[in-house]
Parts: sequence; C-alpha cells; structure tokens
Amino acid sequence: PVLLILAGLCGYLLGSVPFGLVITRALGLGDLRAIGSGNIGATNVLRTGHKGAALATLVLDAGKGAVAVLIARCLVGEDAAQLAGGMAFLGHLFPVWLGFKGGKGVATFLGTLLALAWPVGLAACATWLVAALITRISSASALIAAALSGLWCFVFGRGDVLILTFALTVLVYVRHWPNLKRIKAGTEPKIGHKKG
Ligand code: G3P
Repeated sequence: PVLLILAGLCGYLLGSVPFGLVITRALGLGDLRAIGSGNIGATNVLRTGHKGAALATLVLDAGKGAVAVLIARCLVGEDAAQLAGGMAFLGHLFPVWLGFKGGKGVATFLGTLLALAWPVGLAACATWLVAALITRISSASALIAAALSGLWCFVFGRGDVLILTFALTVLVYVRHWPNLKRIKAGTEPKIGHKKG
C-alpha cells in the first residue's frame, strides 16, 4: 500500500504540471487563462497562434500521463500504473500549483491510455483525429474520442482498463460542459480559430 500511495502521489504531482501555462509564459505569449476559452490545454495554446507551443503542450501533457504510468509500472506493477495514470489525469484537472483550477484532461487522458493499453490509446487518438478532420472542433473530437474509448477496451480485449477509462471519460464530459453548451448553440470555435 505504501508503494501504491507513492505511485499515486507521483502521478498526481506529475499531472499537476500545467505545461500549457509554463510554455506560453516562457515564450511571452501572454496569460493563457485570459485567451480564448481560458483553458490551459493545447487547443487554447493554438489560439495564441504559436503552433510549436501548442504541439509541445500536447506532447508534454500527454507525456506526463504516460510517464506516470510507465514509472509506476516499472517500480511497482500494473495496479500502481493504473492508479498513477488516473492520478496524473486528476492532477491535470485539479493542479495543486494552480489552486486546483486546471484543464480538461484530453491530452493526459490519451497519454495515460497509450501507456496503459497502447491499442486502446492509439484507437482513441485515431478517433480524435478522424473526428477533428470531420468536425474541425477540438472539444467535439475529444468528446467523441472519450465516448468511444470504452468500446475500444472491448474491441482490444482490455477489460482490465475499462473502469478507469470509463471514470476518466465521465470527467472529460463534466469538464467539457461549457464546450457542450457552445456546441449545442453552434458557437464553439473551430480548431486554430483565434477567438475562443
Ligand atoms: O482539450 C480541450 C479541448 O477539448 C477543448 O479546449 O480550449 O476549446 O475549451 P477549449
């Protein structure tokens, strides 16, 4: 149990690092939380017009979930890996460094899934991509990818990660509530559109 707690704590602290904010600040791109949707994720970083910064945010926010899983798996085991991934996701949503006001968790969700069960993660990334090509809306793509991720667990015989996947999917939906309202109203901006 001590090792499990440590794995969870490390996952949470890793997930808490708000790479979008760190990168945009380092590049002098202004306060991300005053731009577009105000979110700290890659989609909103793209609204600054800096594609490299958005890509770096995407990779690092996904990477922190993956790294949390891989470290816990190496040092403790599979249960710890799931716990660390879930906690990294929660860290991104409720980061200790930002007064627990964090992001929506899409990149970290995908990174965690990739490291926990790569076929499921890959299928979820592909779903996001196809949905993005069709809708051109990041949040809608994330909601579609999250909704289908449970299905991919079945398809690839990874029932072991289904409960965690489902829990994270629910949280992704909760965090995208304002986006859902905008999608419904037809006011959700397309990817790369500067005014959120
Ligand atoms: O990853 C978050 C994305 O799904 C929506 O971001 O900034 O449009 O709320 P945003």
